This record gives sequence, structure tokens and C-alpha cells, in this order.
Amino acid sequence: MRNLLSAADLNADEIHALLDEAGELKDSLLGREVRKLPTLRGRTIMTMFYENSTRTRVSFETAGKWLSADVINVSASTSSVSKGESLRDTALTLSSIGADMLIVRHPASGAAQQLAGWMAAEGTRTTIVNAGDGMHEHPTQALLDAMTIREKLGGFAGRKVVIVGDILHSRVARSNAILLDTLGAEVVLVAPRTLQPVGVDTWPVRMSDDLDAELVDADAIMMLRVQGERMNGGFFPSPREYAVRYGLSAARAARLPSHAAVLHPGPMVRGMEIGFSVADAPSSAVLDQVTNGIHLRMAVLLRSLVHSEGNA
Ligand code: CP
Repeated sequence: MRNLLSAADLNADEIHALLDEAGELKDSLLGREVRKLPTLRGRTIMTMFYENSTRTRVSFETAGKWLSADVINVSASTSSVSKGESLRDTALTLSSIGADMLIVRHPASGAAQQLAGWMAAEGTRTTIVNAGDGMHEHPTQALLDAMTIREKLGGFAGRKVVIVGDILHSRVARSNAILLDTLGAEVVLVAPRTLQPVGVDTWPVRMSDDLDAELVDADAIMMLRVQGERMNGGFFPSPREYAVRYGLSAARAARLPSHAAVLHPGPMVRGMEIGFSVADAPSSAVLDQVTNGIHLRMAVLLRSLVHSEGNA
């Protein structure tokens, strides 16, 4: 049993081992008519999503099914959560039903860590994987981003990765900052002052508010979604100002080095944070990220449920 709660749970060797395994799974499965391995037959994985998701939930479900696990999806809106059942009681109920793993997305920062603590205190063997907790962390997103960057650039040492946008509300930015720093990349975060987190000076990054200055020598650029749902109705700068100063327009993308990869974790808001044509250009790795997400999450399931047997 091995939880995955934060990008900080992994050292560089462990990250590379996950990326290697994900790459091998991708090479062996993509293009096959039957994409099924027996490794997790008899194991039960449950997803608990208290926030909406397309990519993360569906790719975890696909990853589990391709490894022959039984995968059960529990959503807050159709479960007894809607009757007031707590996160702790819901998780312990699902563990008692037989979940070997709970994959959890929750709007509260720290929810996955809290849940892992409760499960350990109760002596359950159910593994917790963080699928995004509030504004805190999204470790499997950072891993699939690293897999995509490694495929495009060959490695991380000496590479400059620029992450642009709503850093304040972004669990993706925090997990990527930790993971890419562990791997030896230079990470530069770019955001207007109003979307820079308090305490970012303690992160292993350089912070800037000047996208045009930073993009000219970027090896990879990751555009983030502006999370209006976490802004309580206040959106500053305005969407129009934001698009002009921080959007990756076609004109801006033309000033990137020719080898630079363009990433976005999705969902994309085209026309504001990324231009329509930029999202579909050959330099765009957005759909590679999505495909890599399946294989990377297969590797995460194997790490927690197979490779760590006897390692609780
Ligand atoms: N990148 C990401 O977490 O997307 P979803 O919200 O669709 O899962």
C-alpha cells in the first residue's frame, strides 16, 4: 500500500521509474486492438469525485480497466454525500465494501492528506491517491506533464519550463513546480500580481509578471486555466486584459523557440488563455498529455497496488 498525495512524495529516481513504466505501457498497448493486461485482476479501485472532471476521472477509470481491475465511480451528487454523509464516513464505507484504492478529488486543499490520515488511524489497507485537492496539489497531472515534456525534449536538466496564468488557484502549478524542480528543470511562473500566491517566494521557482520576456527562451510553456469558479465573482484583470497580457496568441507563440512544446492541463478556455490555432498547432502537446495520462496513471496504480506489496 503506497499513497500518492503530493509531488513531494517522490524523489527523482521514483519519478523516472514511473515515467519509464508509463512509456513501456504506452509502447506496448497503443495501436493494439485489445488493450488489456491481467495485472490487477481481482483488485477494486473506487473513484470519489467531489468536483467535476473529464480527463482525470476517465483516464483513471480507463487505466484501471486496462489493468483488469474492477473500477467503481462514486460521485458526490449521486451518492449519500448529498444526504450529508461526511468525507470520512464515505471513505470508510467504501473501504469496508472492499476498495483497495480510493482516488479522490475534493474542493478542499488538504482533503487527500486528511483522508489518508484517517484511513491509517483506522488501520485500513486502502490506498489514497490525490486526484486534485482544492488549490493545493494534483500530483498525477504533474507526472503526466513531466512524461510529455520528457518525450518532447528528452530530459529536464538545463530546460526552462514557463507556467503561465492563474497560479494563485492552481494545484497543477504547485505540483509541477515541485516535480520539475526535483527533476532538475528551471521553473518560471508567470502571472499578474493579483494571481500570484502569497508565499510563492518559498517555492522552488522564479516568479515573473512579464510573459513576453520569459517566453523567448522557453523549452516548454504550460498555459493554465483561469479558475473563475474560485474567484467569488471578482475577476481581475478582466478576461479581455488577461487575454491581451497573458494569453498565448498566435503572434506570441511565433516568438517561442521552434523546439518549444506547448502544454495545457485542460480544460482549455480557447481565445482567453490560449489561441484557437495555437491549441491545434503541431507544437501543441495537449492531446499527448491526455493520452499519456492513461499510461502514467496505470503506472501509478501498479506502484501503489503491486510494486509496494509488503511495503505498507
Ligand atoms: N487536468 C484536469 O485535471 O482535467 P479534469 O478537471 O478534466 O480532470
